[in-house]
Amino acid sequence: MPDSNRPSLARNVISAAGLVIAAVSLANIIFLVFADVTGVHNPYVGILAYAVVPAFMVGGLLLFFVGMLVERRRRHKMAPDAIARYPSLDLNSPRVRRMAIIWAFGIFFFIIISLLGSYRMYEYTDSDQFCGLVCHKVMHPEYTAYLQSPHARVGCVGCHVGAGAGWYVRSKLSGAYQVYSVIAHKYPEPIPSPVENLRPSRETCERCHWPEKFFGAQLKVFTHFGYDEQNTPREIRMLIKTGGGSPTGGLVAGIHWHMFNQNEIQYIASDEQRQNIEWVRIRNRKTNEATEYKAQDSKFTDAQLAAMPKRTMDCIDCHNRPTHIYVPPDRAIDRELLAGRIDRTLPFIKSKAVEALSGDYKTTPEALQAIDKSLRTYYSTEQPAVWNTKRPAVESAIKNVQIVFQNTRFPEMKVDWRVHPDNIGHFYFKGCFRCHDDQHVAKNGKIIPKDCHICHDVLGEQQAGNIMFEVPKNEFQHPVDIGDLRSATCADCHTGKPM
Ligand code: HEC
Ligand code: HEC
Ligand code: HEC
Ligand code: HEC
Ligand code: HEC
Ligand code: HEC
Repeated sequence: MPDSNRPSLARNVISAAGLVIAAVSLANIIFLVFADVTGVHNPYVGILAYAVVPAFMVGGLLLFFVGMLVERRRRHKMAPDAIARYPSLDLNSPRVRRMAIIWAFGIFFFIIISLLGSYRMYEYTDSDQFCGLVCHKVMHPEYTAYLQSPHARVGCVGCHVGAGAGWYVRSKLSGAYQVYSVIAHKYPEPIPSPVENLRPSRETCERCHWPEKFFGAQLKVFTHFGYDEQNTPREIRMLIKTGGGSPTGGLVAGIHWHMFNQNEIQYIASDEQRQNIEWVRIRNRKTNEATEYKAQDSKFTDAQLAAMPKRTMDCIDCHNRPTHIYVPPDRAIDRELLAGRIDRTLPFIKSKAVEALSGDYKTTPEALQAIDKSLRTYYSTEQPAVWNTKRPAVESAIKNVQIVFQNTRFPEMKVDWRVHPDNIGHFYFKGCFRCHDDQHVAKNGKIIPKDCHICHDVLGEQQAGNIMFEVPKNEFQHPVDIGDLRSATCADCHTGKPM
């Protein structure tokens, strides 16, 4: 029987089904790609357009060929002689020639489209949408905090992956496991920090911030509001000695002194979150001179310490919250009052707002309701005069506290400021005082100092508009007497909640 008269091998149920699947997938891909390029803001569009549906299409095509093979086998069994072992490709036959050209073009376009699709998939799996929104519930806290931070435009991969093929592959491998753990609901709540296997921050942060470029000093103004009836404003102006100059260009001092390449600081922490530091060593990489400090109250013997893992200090040991900043209620309400989003003439508003914001809630809706109820009840029953004259201000305060809650606390993932300590400063957490506590002592008696002047100079302080002191004195005046400041641990009392 001549080749051209035989019914095509593709005429069978399996191939037909494969073809239908492939065609429907193709139509879907065209639709989804169109949706993606025209900017439909749904994080699932990308994953469907560039991963799930193409997989179906390839599956459909495979099925098509499997069908042909099965059909060929069947015909071969029925009439072993009617079918040749290999298809004969006679390019002299116009039909075969036509088919060959169609197939060649088809394969060519398929390859081009797959390349484009793969590239888009690569771009897409690196996008903030993919990282932050696809596993919506899981990444919601990190994504929300990120969007409010100075790094909102940097992109997740800027810090979590960085440049180079090695880390790209590693991140996609661990990413694949993460996608699985989301689907199988195997992820921890909250997602823990520190992130194990985070790329050394000096390879990521230093693409944009490098030690030679560090700043000399920064003026920072801290504004607080008291827990009293007047919500007394207190302002501290401070010159923070961030540190600057390059080792080749001059002065090497200040806070970023830890990061100049000559200095290697290693430490041993006895807890997961690296809050309890037992041992510190500073070594000069050039001269190899080293000083070892040990925590005076350390429970560990030297032999035990020698067996514990050491970490080399980098940016993340101070800047562990550069972008996922879960602001403590105390500070969040200070900011609202300072910005005027909450009316600071409402009596006790600081105290009541922080109290409502820092309650223990199981879900966000429960919290929003409780915030509404507690502020409404307080002003309507205990401050009737205010309730009658400043009702809109109370209503707006309630609304803003609710917004703050949604931006800073995430009960569904059990995330808030208490879960991830912030290591910059020493106000709500130990921070710098993890080492700088006068209690880490070297054999020669040297300490890691808690001297209030090595890190900053207080330029001025005001309370309720009254100047408490101006420049020359340069000693922080604590609003209430707590004795010797140098022996105080600020975070013992300042926890971010009402005191
Ligand atoms: C400016 C750099 C930076 C950017 C941008 C960034 N991260 Fe992070 N991320 C960090 C650092 C630093 C940590 C904490 C590391 C540590 O403590 O070990 C972290 C921690 C996390 C954690 C662990 C939980 C936690 O809060 O500590 C998750 C999850 C996370 N990031 C997801 C994301 C996602 C999703 C994005 C993009 C929407 C993103 N990150 C963007 C630097 C960044
Ligand atoms: C892709 C570039 C990029 C990367 C990577 C990056 N940053 Fe930044 N960073 C920025 C930009 C842009 C700003 C905002 C500058 C401004 O507001 O003037 C910023 C601001 C900051 C600030 C000042 C924040 C403030 O409150 O004003 C700190 C601190 C900081 N980055 C630390 C880090 C750390 C730590 C890392 C690594 C985990 C990092 N950055 C990675 C670009 C980057
Ligand atoms: C010993 C702790 C420590 C280490 C380590 C550290 N920093 Fe800082 N950095 C600070 C402090 C403190 C500030 C002052 C910021 C503040 O008070 O909000 C600061 C400020 C900054 C700023 C903002 C400067 C400005 O003027 O806005 C950037 C950017 C920055 N650091 C990047 C880095 C990078 C990148 C690394 C790693 C190479 C690093 N830091 C390592 C403590 C540290
Ligand atoms: C892991 C321990 C550790 C942590 C955490 C730490 N430091 Fe240090 N820091 C040291 C050591 C060790 C020295 C050197 C002390 C000495 O030999 O005088 C030092 C020295 C300094 C100096 C003096 C630098 C100079 O000019 O000589 C400053 C300023 C400083 N640290 C600021 C900070 C700030 C700000 C933080 C918190 C954001 C911080 N440190 C967190 C270990 C630490
Ligand atoms: C090792 C460095 C270091 C030492 C020592 C240190 N501080 Fe600080 N302090 C900081 C840094 C860094 C900040 C800025 C934190 C920030 O930007 O949020 C800060 C912030 C502050 C603030 C403002 C906090 C706020 O949120 O209003 C006060 C007040 C303060 N320090 C007082 C002191 C006093 C008093 C001492 C001496 C017992 C002291 N500090 C010792 C690093 C240090
Ligand atoms: C024994 C508890 C205690 C310790 C320890 C403590 N404080 Fe306070 N702090 C208070 C109290 C109480 C107030 C007054 C709050 C009020 O009146 O609203 C206060 C107020 C403040 C304020 C004014 C802002 C505000 O919230 O009203 C600053 C700034 C401050 N403290 C800084 C520090 C620093 C820096 C340290 C560590 C060196 C420290 N405190 C240690 C109890 C403490």
